[in-house]
Order: sequence, then structure tokens, then C-alpha cells
Amino acid sequence: MNRSISGLAACMLCAASAVGAADLSGTVQDAGGKPLAGVFVTARSAARGWAVSVVSDAQGHYRLPDLAADSYSLTGARLGHESARVDALKLGASGAQQDLKLGVATDANARMPGYAWLAALPNSEFKARFITGCTICHDAGAERVRLPKDHAGWVAAIEMMRNRKLDVYSVIPDFDNNELADWLVKNHFGEKPAAVALPDPAKDATAHAVIREYDVGDANSWAHDMAVEPATGAVWVGDYPYDKLIRVDPDTAAQKVYMIPVKGGGAHTLHFDREGGLWITLQLADKVVRFDPKTENFKVYAGFQAGSLIHSFAYDGHGLIQTDKQGRLWMSEFGKNAVASLDPASGEVREYALPGAVGHTYGIALDSHGRAWYTKYNENIFGMFDPATGKATEKVLPRPSSAPHRMAIDGHDRLWIPLSGYGVLARYDITADRLEEIPLPEPDTFPYAARYDADSDSVWVMGNGASSLYRYWPAAGHFDSYRLPSPISYGRMIAVDYERGEVWTSLANYPTKHTGRTTATLVRVGGLAPAPGK
Ligand code: HEC
Repeated sequence: MNRSISGLAACMLCAASAVGAADLSGTVQDAGGKPLAGVFVTARSAARGWAVSVVSDAQGHYRLPDLAADSYSLTGARLGHESARVDALKLGASGAQQDLKLGVATDANARMPGYAWLAALPNSEFKARFITGCTICHDAGAERVRLPKDHAGWVAAIEMMRNRKLDVYSVIPDFDNNELADWLVKNHFGEKPAAVALPDPAKDATAHAVIREYDVGDANSWAHDMAVEPATGAVWVGDYPYDKLIRVDPDTAAQKVYMIPVKGGGAHTLHFDREGGLWITLQLADKVVRFDPKTENFKVYAGFQAGSLIHSFAYDGHGLIQTDKQGRLWMSEFGKNAVASLDPASGEVREYALPGAVGHTYGIALDSHGRAWYTKYNENIFGMFDPATGKATEKVLPRPSSAPHRMAIDGHDRLWIPLSGYGVLARYDITADRLEEIPLPEPDTFPYAARYDADSDSVWVMGNGASSLYRYWPAAGHFDSYRLPSPISYGRMIAVDYERGEVWTSLANYPTKHTGRTTATLVRVGGLAPAPGK
């Protein structure tokens, strides 16, 4: 896992030259002049297209470390308060001081997290269907989505979603549009959030975190997945509608764009292999590519059935591509009821039909016996395909519409499966054939991906609707919560930088415009809390 010496040395140099060492610090007060804890203080450089955030402590103090000399806009934001903002703040090499005073919120609902709106809905299978069919693309807290509509308004919105040309809209379950509209109106969805306990980032793992956000692409970009390059620490992200692969330098925010040589491919999932090559699924083109960062060449692999919508690769506890004993990669086919293998040496593709209906095969992972485990989002199923026998066996999850999503496997042959319909992280012990449900810290969150971290034996889960990245420590049975500074921080894949001890996600609410941002965003969380008890 160690980075090459030259990569590390290069990185240390760029950190020293580009980041600088000036601090921006100050105190945050509420409207009455009292110190205010748990405020996200964010310095944003528009010129560089990045922002750094920390949280104020019990005395209202904040310190943004290691900022480059630049001009910043500084904001202070906390749920239940009006944000404060100072523009064109000049920071020199010796740092600066700036206090902030937050006002009384005029519209407390404007920043209310999505889960508070969903928690106001009565629990029922209908709710799970709404969550799994509708919040899979966009956060329920986005105004455009949640603002109250009458029956006709909801029917029009649902029909518009169903009638869009892209195949990915087929994840909307086959319910009656009128029935869902009736239910949303009857239950006053979007009128009043539930009185839920709101997270206090001063009191959880966010307290010592330093969170950096990087602008990527434009308002129509969809940065679905990203991966950290083990050799250099660079972060690579795909821009789905633009056929772009973008390399981001975490220290300077400098970006380099590579055009993927397949038009309309839909760059979806990215993982590095052990040789340093970057594999990308091109969901809309039924192809995958391998990019070599050294030669900057793409190799395209075709031969998948039309409409397969290749989704995920099987990957290991270091985020690297898993291969079986024959050296083959394994993929899930979201559009067909199948998993597939690819021999990178010969280019041979094999597809294996699974039992049952097309259920949107999502996550995939290889266990220690070389068997391919998969989830079916819309069929409430997870299963296993055994290449040795050519047979698949499937298990139905205990609750309807659980929507098992992108899972991970750990080194003990346990699957970590996000159950999006119920805000749950499930653990399935393959050897013992035992399934346990672990509720996420906030109710009604929408976990998209789970990402196992083999170095620390912990599991990362993205909590959409709560704009939170959770880390679960199985040995301690404990969650760390990292609150992300931007409202509607809707992440999908999670990547770990093992060298720096940091974690990344990309904000991929679809569409970006619902979030108020004008670009896609990469998020990097540093200053992570140690393992419980350490
Ligand atoms: C595959 C992704 C996807 C799914 C699934 C999806 N949406 Fe959307 N939704 C979008 C996109 C993209 C837009 C923006 C459309 C535009 O403005 O062109 C949008 C826009 C909306 C809007 C705003 C419309 C407006 O007036 O601007 C509402 C409301 C909405 N969706 C509700 C829903 C509901 C309800 C469901 C479930 C039945 C749903 N969405 C499922 C992607 C999705």
C-alpha cells in the first residue's frame, strides 16, 4: 500500500509550497453576543475553486489552519441561525483574525436536513418506496423537490421523472402515480419537518475535522464516483454526462482533464488495480475502460450485452479491484439481471444470468472462496453467484423495499450492505449465515454506499439526507459522525486515502442545481477521530 518514494517526496514539496502556513481564526457569536459552538466556518477561494471548513468550539473559537495567502469569502453557518458572511477577506503570510456574528433565523426550514422532512411521514411500505424510488437521485431536503404540491403537482412531478429518457430512471418502482401523489398530499409532505434532534457538529467527530471542498466541472456535471490514487494521493473523478476523467491535486486543487474515448459513455465507477491502472465502468455504453496514469492511455473493453448498464466493480478493503484466481474482474449489470466477469489479458467477457426479475444489480464483492455476492436494489434481495457451480442462491431481506445498495466486503467474509429504505447498515456474516441490522445515527437517512477500510477495520457509510458521513467501528459498536458543511451534501461513493489517513466523497445529488451549487463538488475530510478507546 505504500506510495512510491518519488510520489511521496513530490507530494510533500507541493504541500509545503502551495498550502502555506497562515491561519485564519476568530470567535463566533449568536445574535445575543454569546459564544456559539458548532458553527461551520468556511473560507472559500473563488479563484482556486476550493473551500476549507472547521467547526467552532464551546468558546465559539475557530481556527482554519494552513491557508494559502489569498482572498477569501468567510461564512459561518449553523442550523437554526441566519448565516454570517464576510467577503474579500485578504489573508497574508502572517494570518488574520475575523470574528463572526450569526443572526436569528428568518426561515429555519430552509436548511433543515432531508431526514427531518422524511421523518414527518408515517412509517409504511409506501414511505420506503418513496424513499427508494425518489431520494435515490436527489435529497428530500432540496426545496425544489419537497415544496408542498397538490395532487396534480405531484402526479406531474412523478410522471416527469418516469418519462425521462435515461435508463437509470427505471429504479422508480412500479407503483401507481396517483396513489403516491394521494399519500404525499394526505401526509402533508413538505409542509412541516418533524421535530427531530438536530446534529451538533461541536459534539461529535466533526469537532476536530478539517473539511475541504473542491469545485469540479459545471452545474450540469455529475461527479458520481471518485478514487484516490495509491501511488500519488491524487484524486480521480468521473464526470458522467461529459465523458471526462478529471485528476485533482489535493494540495493545490489543480485539475487535469482527460477525455474518455467513448462518446456518451457515462463514467460511473472508478477503482485502481494493484498495478496502478484505473478501471472505469461506462454505464451508458456497455463498456469498461482501463486508464494508465503513466502513459495516459485508455484501453477500452467491449463485449457486454446491450443495455447491461455496467454498474460496480468488486473491490477490496483498500478500494482496489478484486480479481479471482483466474485474474478476472467482476462487475454487476444494473440493466440486466446479471453479473459479469472480464479477463483483462484476453478481453473475454462472460455474463451470468441471475434468477428472478431484473432487480437492478448494484453492489458486488468477491468472498474468500471466490464467490460473487451481489445486491438487487429493487428486488429486496442479495445473493451469491458461485462460478464453480454456475449457480446463484438468493436471500430476501426481512423488510419490504429495503433497497440494498452498494455493499462492501471485509476481511472476515462479512458483507456490509446499506439498506437505503430504512436508514440501516446491515452486516451479513457469510460463514454463519447471519444478518444483523445496525440503524444509522439519524433516522430516515439514505445510505448509498458502504466502504470497508481494512487498515482500521471500520466501515464508512454515506448518510444522505443528513449530509453526514458515518464511520462504524464494529469492534466497539460505535459510530463516528462527520457532518459535511454544505447543505444537501449528497454523497455516493467513498474513498480512503490511506497515506494521509483521510476520507473522500463526491457530492452527486442529481441534479446539482437542486443543491444551490454551480459545480459538482469533491469533499475531503481530514483530522479524523482516532479509533474508540485509542
Ligand atoms: C434517476 C434519477 C431521479 C429519480 C429516480 C427521481 N428524480 Fe426527480 N429529478 C431528477 C432530475 C435530474 C431532476 C431535474 C430535472 C430538470 O430540471 O430537468 C429532478 C427534478 C425533480 C423535481 C423538481 C421538478 C421541478 O419543478 O423543477 C421534483 C419535484 C422531483 N424530481 C421529484 C421526484 C420524485 C417524486 C421522484 C420519485 C417518483 C423522483 N423525483 C425520482 C432525477 C431523479
